[in-house]
Amino acid sequence: MGTPTSHKFSVAPMMEWTDRHERYFLRQISRRALLYTEMVTAEAVIHGDRERLLGFSASEHPIALQLGGADPGRMALAAEVGQEYGYDEVNINVGCPSDRVRRRLCPGHGAGN
Ligand SMILES: Cc1cc2nc3c(=O)[nH]c(=O)nc-3n(C[C@H](O)[C@H](O)[C@H](O)COP(=O)(O)O)c2cc1C
Repeated sequence: MGTPTSHKFSVAPMMEWTDRHERYFLRQISRRALLYTEMVTAEAVIHGDRERLLGFSASEHPIALQLGGADPGRMALAAEVGQEYGYDEVNINVGCPSDRVRRRLCPGHGAGN
């Protein structure tokens, strides 16, 4: 991650929508829009299948990884993994209003809920 950039237009993080396939498609529409991933929990990044969760095509840049979690240390660790993967930005979600998150179907999140 370099210097923070400003983007006039971005596509918001949307669980079950902004996966790598959707982002690849969206990149055909705009070369410059910042594309967000779905929210990925810090614990999933730390323990899960990283290539499946974090893999993306080089054509998706500029791309921001959205991390969800409540523990600053775990969030920092997951952010480092995201940085190693080449994400341009890491966005922090500490209070997702999603019903799925509230119902604790996203283990390890629960922040602000
Ligand atoms: C299906 C769906 C999934 C979403 N998932 C996330 C998410 O993972 N993380 C997040 O921060 N916001 C999520 N949001 C909220 C959106 O990113 C966005 O903030 C919201 O749709 C309001 O944007 P708007 O004012 O442009 O409509 C989601 C919204 C929708 C409709």
